[in-house]
This record gives sequence, structure tokens and C-alpha cells, in this order.
Amino acid sequence: MLTAITRAVSPAIVHCELSFIDRKPIDLARARQQHQAYEVLLAKLGARVVSLPPEPHLPDSMFVEDPAIVLDELAVILPLGTESRRREAHLLAQELSKHRKLAYVQLPGTLEGGDVLRIGRKFFVGLTKRSNAEGIRQFAEIIKPHGYEVISVPVTGCLHLKSAVTFLGDNTLLANRAWFDTAPFGGYDWIDVDPSEPHAANALALSGTVVFPASFPKTRGRIGSLDFRVTPLDISELQKAESGLTCSSLLFESFSG
Ligand code: GLY
Repeated sequence: MLTAITRAVSPAIVHCELSFIDRKPIDLARARQQHQAYEVLLAKLGARVVSLPPEPHLPDSMFVEDPAIVLDELAVILPLGTESRRREAHLLAQELSKHRKLAYVQLPGTLEGGDVLRIGRKFFVGLTKRSNAEGIRQFAEIIKPHGYEVISVPVTGCLHLKSAVTFLGDNTLLANRAWFDTAPFGGYDWIDVDPSEPHAANALALSGTVVFPASFPKTRGRIGSLDFRVTPLDISELQKAESGLTCSSLLFESFSG
């Protein structure tokens, strides 16, 4: 069954890493409320949600997408590109070991799940300040024997590759094409974010709908006009920590309890 691992918002989220936006006060109660609404929506869309407890000393630990990539065959545990977040990987590995055999990318390689966009058997991996060429090389070496292809994508202008492009299904990418090298993506159809909403490229396509931040109505209109069903979700408080919609869960098929 579809499983979603999440982790509750840390009380330290006000000290989160920030790369591309200015720090603003974060209302913890409101952030938690929005994260809980996200978990409720995942459950409504058919996922069994495994909600891990908050980590008081790890400000960014709710972003469980970053420390691991889960495939049917194994889970790859990643050394995050920012040192303040490295301890998150060990904690997540404990939970993932209940579901998958584990493999590890090692330093000096760095890699974050936010940079990893999967489309079928292809993994497009962003080369960013968080994910380096050595991390991508090791990741490819681990997963290629299982029949996956890994393609590096230079990214500029945003935190992760999936801040700039996500896959909506039906051969379609939602993107801010100014922020990454589009050359590796030949053959896909594009929906461009509205120019007034440059951060609107991160959407979560799940169970026949596109879960999308309520704060980007113009881009939402563009997606909806092309026959995608869109489910808006208010993550405005979490966006102050540079949250998107993919980064707050790790989604995979669970083959055991
Ligand atoms: N605040 C998310 C990150 O920078 O990792």
C-alpha cells in the first residue's frame, strides 16, 4: 500500500536553513496546523501516513524528502549538503530499515532528495549547492544495477531542482525554466509558472490530483486549464521555511506491515 512518512514540525523551525528568501517570523502553531492538514490530505488520497515525532533540535527535520530516496528495491540514505541537517538522515534510516534494505551515499558526496526528480525509470538529479557531482555519481552507481538511469541537471536560482520543476503526469512538467538547464528534458510538455509566481513549480501529483500551494492562484489556473485536477492547500506558514509540497513526505509502496 502507498505509505507516506512525515515528521511533525520542529519547535526549532524558526532557525531553519534559508537559501533564497529572507527570514520572517514563523507562527509555530499555524505551521503545525498546516502540516497536519497536509497529512490529512495524504491520507484522504490513499496513503497510510506514518507521522514521526518532532525533533526539537533539528529545525528542518519535517522535510523528510531530503535525506533519502526510496525505490521498490532499496532505500538510499543521503549525506545532506548542509551540515546542520546531516543528523536527519540517521533518524530516517531507522524508520526506513523497517521497509527496505538500505544503501548509503558517502561524503564527500552530498545529495538531497529535493534535487531528485523521478519520472518512471529516469532520475533527473539537480547539481546545486546541496547536491554535488560526487553525490550524483555514487547515487547512480547504487541504482543503475536495478535498471534506473541518472541524468544530472545544472540548477541556478533556487534551492533544489524540484523547486524549479516537478512532474504532473501525462508527460507534463510544471516549471520555472529560468532556473535550470532544460536540455535534458527534451520530449516533455511544459506548463510554465506564471511570471509573478516564480516559486510555483513545486507540486505533488498524487492519486489523480495535483496538490498545489493555495498561494499561487495564477499558476494554479494554468494547470487547471489543461485538464489536471488541482487540490489547493494552504502552506503559507511553511513556505517561510522554503517548503514546497513534495518535501514534507516520503512516498513509496510498502510491501510489508
Ligand atoms: N529550509 C529547507 C532547507 O533549506 O533545507
